[in-house]
Amino acid sequence: MDKESNLSETLKDEKPVSTAHRHRGKTSESFLNKDIILKELDILPGQTILDAGCGNGYMAKEFSKILNNTGKVYALDPDTEAIKTLKQKTKGTNIEPIEADITQTTPIEGLSIDLIYLSTVLHGFSEDQITNFLLEAKRLLKPKARLAIIEIQKQDTPFGPPLDIRFSPEELKEIINLTPKTLVEVGQYFYMQIFENIE
Ligand SMILES: C[S@@+](CC[C@H](N)C(=O)[O-])C[C@H]1O[C@@H](n2cnc3c(N)ncnc32)[C@H](O)[C@@H]1O
Repeated sequence: MDKESNLSETLKDEKPVSTAHRHRGKTSESFLNKDIILKELDILPGQTILDAGCGNGYMAKEFSKILNNTGKVYALDPDTEAIKTLKQKTKGTNIEPIEADITQTTPIEGLSIDLIYLSTVLHGFSEDQITNFLLEAKRLLKPKARLAIIEIQKQDTPFGPPLDIRFSPEELKEIINLTPKTLVEVGQYFYMQIFENIE
């Protein structure tokens, strides 16, 4: 499958199911610039990172490499198969795959996370799910910890979910009850916005 077809497979069936929609087992891997993302995230030794909606966990593995066994990476997704595979592949590492829903209370300890990474997941949430995600994010994040959100641009692109369920960076600032810090392009059609948990 070429990149474009794969891309459409990846994000094309992004249709709202009632107010929410589900996209399981997909990956944004070939469309995002990992180097830019990792540079901007500036992960430090000993940190605890949550890759929420991790899919195949490719970024959780990158985070783990940077931490070099000094911290911990939770790779969380409700997709049973994805988490089962990830568990097999990450045995003996500092990655803990968790089958869970980030819009509900997770088994992760409160105030334990330095960075929540949410890549191409948020646009699939209903309003209620976003509210509940933010409650869970607030419960998990340490003071001054960060939430990094990657989303597809809210403009015509050759693939991707319907425009009306996408978020612009400005809309994210309205929705996310954390302090916006950095906005960076991380792929031809994608941006990453980083928020900080400042009271
Ligand atoms: C488009 S994929 C992105 C996967 C990965 N973050 C990436 O960038 O490649 C969206 C992922 O979000 C997961 N997801 C959907 N609803 C979720 C929820 N409520 N909590 C956590 N993950 C969820 C899906 O199972 C899927 O793996």
